[in-house]
Amino acid sequence: MTTESTAATPVGSAAPAPKGAPVLKLTDINMSFGATQVLLDVSIEVRAGEVLCLLGDNGAGKSTLIKIMSGVYQPKAGKIEVDGEEVTFSSPRDTAKHGLATVHQFGGTFPLMTIGRSFFVGSEPEKGWGPFKRFDRKYANETAVREMRALGLTRITDGNRLVGGLSGGERQVLAIARAVHFGARVLVLDEPTAALGVKEAAHVLRIVMQARKKGIAVVFITHQVTHALTVGDHFAVLIRGIKAADFRKGEKTREEITDLMAGGEAMAELEAELEAYQFAGHGESTELPTA
Ligand SMILES: Nc1ncnc2c1ncn2[C@@H]1O[C@H](COP(=O)(O)OP(=O)(O)O)[C@@H](O)[C@H]1O
Ligand SMILES: [Mg+2]
Repeated sequence: MTTESTAATPVGSAAPAPKGAPVLKLTDINMSFGATQVLLDVSIEVRAGEVLCLLGDNGAGKSTLIKIMSGVYQPKAGKIEVDGEEVTFSSPRDTAKHGLATVHQFGGTFPLMTIGRSFFVGSEPEKGWGPFKRFDRKYANETAVREMRALGLTRITDGNRLVGGLSGGERQVLAIARAVHFGARVLVLDEPTAALGVKEAAHVLRIVMQARKKGIAVVFITHQVTHALTVGDHFAVLIRGIKAADFRKGEKTREEITDLMAGGEAMAELEAELEAYQFAGHGESTELPTA
């Protein structure tokens, strides 16, 4: 098979780590819900014009980490820095002030709103004055359609259409177009290609590359290794809330990455075995076993 030869060689050429402070840096983030530890000492960083892929199986803690970097959750411990300055995100509004835009898993757009409305939600353009002020529908619709078309969605011509009538891929494009229009410096995308067909996924991946070219720092979450390899400069793998690997493009093969992610299950089994072993009185001993 032709794909086998590429699987054995590192994907892409090794890219050196860029210089300067990361736009967004998280250090030793811990998160728990009740007694459940969901993230343990997770550190990641992303720089301008770079795509950081956050990989991990379902339940690994990816969405939780994303909600921490977008102000939805506050971590139990850890540090968040923007441009090298420590910050606290107490709400999603806070993160917008720092130029972060997040597109949450399963949309994050509003199905019953028109395209124009949803594009400008929270920063509605107005016309008129005083009591005659009203939402400038024409401007909103034209701008939304223009920005979506600029990202290749030429099918969309009417900003009055409801968001609920768009396909999954079109909704992702709308959300990304919105972030780019409002000058996002960090774009966080939670599994934007997960529910899409091949063609739509390819379109979204192309747009991610466009954003990267504009100098935006992109955090791209996925559990699909192929999608990650297509756009990623830098990769972090989460397994059950722990960062199991952190590498740059060209440092690992597709096979190694797939094994790593699949390794989550095996690692958990091993942990359970070790725990049982310790419980039986074999562990925690500093003495050498006497055979
Ligand atoms: N609000 C919550 N309350 C309790 N447990 C949660 C909550 N959100 C997520 N979890 C748990 O945290 C773990 C990680 O979830 P999540 O971050 O959604 O993973 P991923 O996005 O990688 O699939 C899962 O075991 C999930 O059940
Ligand atoms: Mg998730």
